[in-house]
Amino acid sequence: MKTNPTIKSGHLSSERRDFLRKSGSLAIMSMFGIGFFTSCAEDEEPRLDDSTPPANGGSAISFENNIITVDLDRAEALDRTGGWTLVIEARALIVNVGGGNFNALTSVCTHSGCDRNWSFNNDVFICSCHGSRFANDGAVLQGPALTPLRSFPTNVDGRTLTVNVS
Ligand code: FES
Repeated sequence: MKTNPTIKSGHLSSERRDFLRKSGSLAIMSMFGIGFFTSCAEDEEPRLDDSTPPANGGSAISFENNIITVDLDRAEALDRTGGWTLVIEARALIVNVGGGNFNALTSVCTHSGCDRNWSFNNDVFICSCHGSRFANDGAVLQGPALTPLRSFPTNVDGRTLTVNVS
């Protein structure tokens, strides 16, 4: 049965985009996480926005038979470089890494299994349970986790992103 999963997502604020544009830093936008763009410079924590249901009643993200399907025309956060989403039911993190490419990772932290206390800042996923940090490809940057996050295959067909979490 197809479900409309619970998600958390983040994206760049227009103010941050303007700041980067004026500072000539567009080329490095993908180097930063959403926290940089959505919060004040002294505020390291990214804002998490619960997904807003689209006006037509459908969901921009669905989850069925271990496949996450994302309508990029409606999944506003994910359609931007640095945008990311946690799909809780699928236990998956998805991040737009730019150039039309996406990385998808398990949201089950390899330290002790927290699966939803994630933030994304300066291109780094942070598990707030005990502070482990992972690169956007799942590599461990800082423990206590020792093992990378498993990655899932992604596919983009037109404006539809699919992630196979099986
Ligand atoms: Fe993620 Fe401990 S469960 S850091």
